[in-house]
Amino acid sequence: MRKTMTTALTAVLLTALTACGSGGGNAADDGKITMGFAQVGAESGWRTANTKSVQESAKSAGIELKFSDAQQKQENQIKAIRSYIQQKVDVIAFSPVVETGWDTVLLEAKRAKIPVILTDRAIDSDDTSLYETFLGSDFIDEGKKAAQWLVENSSGPTNVVELQGTTGAAPAIDRKEGFEDVIRSKPDIRIVASQTGDFTRSGGKQVMEAFLKSQPDIDVVYAHNDDMGLGAIEAIKAAGKKPGVDIKIITVDAVKDGMTALAGGEINFIVECNPLLGPQLMDLAKKVVDGEEVPERVVTEETTFTQDQAKTALPDRKY
Ligand code: AHR
Repeated sequence: MRKTMTTALTAVLLTALTACGSGGGNAADDGKITMGFAQVGAESGWRTANTKSVQESAKSAGIELKFSDAQQKQENQIKAIRSYIQQKVDVIAFSPVVETGWDTVLLEAKRAKIPVILTDRAIDSDDTSLYETFLGSDFIDEGKKAAQWLVENSSGPTNVVELQGTTGAAPAIDRKEGFEDVIRSKPDIRIVASQTGDFTRSGGKQVMEAFLKSQPDIDVVYAHNDDMGLGAIEAIKAAGKKPGVDIKIITVDAVKDGMTALAGGEINFIVECNPLLGPQLMDLAKKVVDGEEVPERVVTEETTFTQDQAKTALPDRKY
């Protein structure tokens, strides 16, 4: 009798310990990792490719994915993260719409012992203990590459209009900063107007229409993503000008539609931003849930494309 009770007690204790070891989540319950992923939205071709990559990679890694689309609203992302905490997922991953305002909800995740991975975009917080790692591009470098091409391919006074990404978002802040850093070396290049197009094609078109009315002399469009650049192309054509010739266009992303416009001569240069983060994200998630050490920062490898390079790369472009 005493032996049976001891065995039962040991079993209860073991179960309790295993549950503690799995953090706030349920990985130890069924052996399967559950990830809550709070996506920004579906604002661009890049985002669509990123979502597909995350969903497909979760499937092939055997990770159960709870996915939400915040429609570019921070409050929706916060709600989604809170619901993942309530559901006791094993790991939360998200791509923050904007850089600031995350400390409270991430502290809640930390208290619930649910590890958080930042993917694609960073947050601006002094407390780096709120997340395990950040996987994504170096957006400042992307802005620098865009400007470097312009420095090397322009002569004389050059008026640039800038189509910024979502206000407050890491890629909008950093791509602007990187670009401005480099053009400082060539005072002939001036940004004469700069406004957000929210990373969308319609936003890019609308802002470009306004720029074409207010700016008499535009030489270059610097768009923080392909979609806004493609919207600007529509506006430029409607104004009777030739995109890529009368007005040069530089964008970031290198999604299929952007690469097609580049190969066709309507865009002049694209800096790549790689959306296929899924496989690396699932890898990091497994490690984090298993309590393994992961690097604080994982930078995505990227390249740039001229018109000729786009022609070569286009047939194999997957997104
Ligand atoms: O955060 C990555 C950026 O977000 C991409 O460059 C843009 O297309 C997207 O909307």
